Order: sequence, then structure tokens, then C-alpha cells
Amino acid sequence: MINLIKSPFFREKETKVALADFVRTADRLSMDRECIRFEEGFAEKQGRRHAVFVNSGSSANLILLQALLNIGRLKKGDRVGFSALTWATNVMPIIELGLEPVPIDCELDTLNVSPTTLQDHIKDLDALFLTNVLGFADEIDELRELCGQHDILLLEDNCEGLGSKVKGVHLGNFGLASTFSFFIGHHLSTIEGGMVCTDDDKVWRMLLMVRAHGWDRNLQRRDQDGLRKEFGVTPFFGKI
Ligand SMILES: Cc1ncc(COP(=O)(O)O)c(C=O)c1O
Repeated sequence: MINLIKSPFFREKETKVALADFVRTADRLSMDRECIRFEEGFAEKQGRRHAVFVNSGSSANLILLQALLNIGRLKKGDRVGFSALTWATNVMPIIELGLEPVPIDCELDTLNVSPTTLQDHIKDLDALFLTNVLGFADEIDELRELCGQHDILLLEDNCEGLGSKVKGVHLGNFGLASTFSFFIGHHLSTIEGGMVCTDDDKVWRMLLMVRAHGWDRNLQRRDQDGLRKEFGVTPFFGKI
């Protein structure tokens, strides 16, 4: 057996001490200022306008699809392609939320969907939720172009690809939105944790609401007022 890495825990001892200190001195342990600082810093580093932090990469995938359903960018029964080489919780939310999963073959030499394997399904897809397996996505530029030509919504599961770049562009910046995992074995860890990134304001606002079980409490005041006007009452959107 070949280990991918020696230990998933970078500077384990020091990290545990720093974590214990943080827990001892923090005013609040649930989401607060530190979470917002992390989201803003992450969005800036990634080069996207918005980042929404959640408890895992799996939840990031789930709230992303739920948010897109809520704002009508996806609808029940839509066909969502996914990389055949992926993680179970990339596919699970597709099934759970009443979308139709369509596996797309991956190439042995790129470990990802290629323009050729995508072509086989191109006429049937409404969305493509691509996985950048271990940061490999050599042909993502061409895939994005194909998706654009066929009106297919491109999303990236970048849970394994933080920091990788293709043609100078960070993976996670090719589609409407992208997801990340901060599980202990990944590049950057919050022990458990995940993120969704997007440049789209409407998707962002809905992500904040889905994360809060439909409440609009994480939105700015003017956005809350706008939504209340649009719907007549405080809306309740899909609960996760
Ligand atoms: C491609 C991919 N998607 C989603 C996930 C789920 O992330 P998490 O373990 O943080 O729930 C993983 C986890 O390794 C993954 O590799």
C-alpha cells in the first residue's frame, strides 16, 4: 500500500494546542465573526466574490443543489451529469433532491470527464456537477465551453482540488459555483468543514438561507427587505 501522505495532520501537536486555546478563549463557539473572517479570506484567496462555510464538503454539495432548486436554476427531474470517478456525497444529493443522476465516463489518463465522454450525453443534460479528482481537470476549459454551447449549468465539486490551477485559473472558478471540503485529510483543514463559492449574488443569498434552514437571519437587512417584498411574507425555503 502507498500512503498518499505521511499524516493528514500538519503540525499535529501545535495545532491541537492552538485549537484548545481558541476554544478556551472564544466568546462564542457557534458561527460568529471568525466564520465571516474565514469566508471573506477564503473568497479573496480563491478569487470569487462569495464563500459560504458549512460543516462538510458533503453539506456544501447538498446546499448548493438545494439553493439552485429554490431559485429555479434547477428543477426537480433535471438531469445532472457527474464524473463517474467521484465521491459518494457528490452523487447522493443529486438523488436525494429529486434530480436525475447521469454518470459520465472518466478517461484513464486524465481521471476526469473529457469532451469526448461528455459529448455522449450532451443533448440530455441540464447540469454537469464535475469532480476535480485530486485536483485533476486538464480539460475543464473545453468542458466549460461545451456546457456554454449547450446551455448546461456547470458546477464544480472541488473538494479534492483546493489550490490547483488550470491555465492559470484556480479550479473552482470555472462554473457557476464550486464546493470545497476541509476534512482533516484535505489541503486545508477545519477538522470537519466545507465551503461553497460563487460570484452570483442570488445564489449566495439563497445559500445563506438554506444553510440557516430557510431563515434569512444571515442576510443583510436590505436583502431581507427585498425578499420579504418579493414574497409578501418571510419565505421558508427548503430545509436541509
Ligand atoms: C470529491 C469529494 N466530494 C465531496 C467530499 C465530501 O467532503 P466531506 O468529507 O467534507 O463531507 C469529498 C471528501 O473527501 C470528496 O473527495
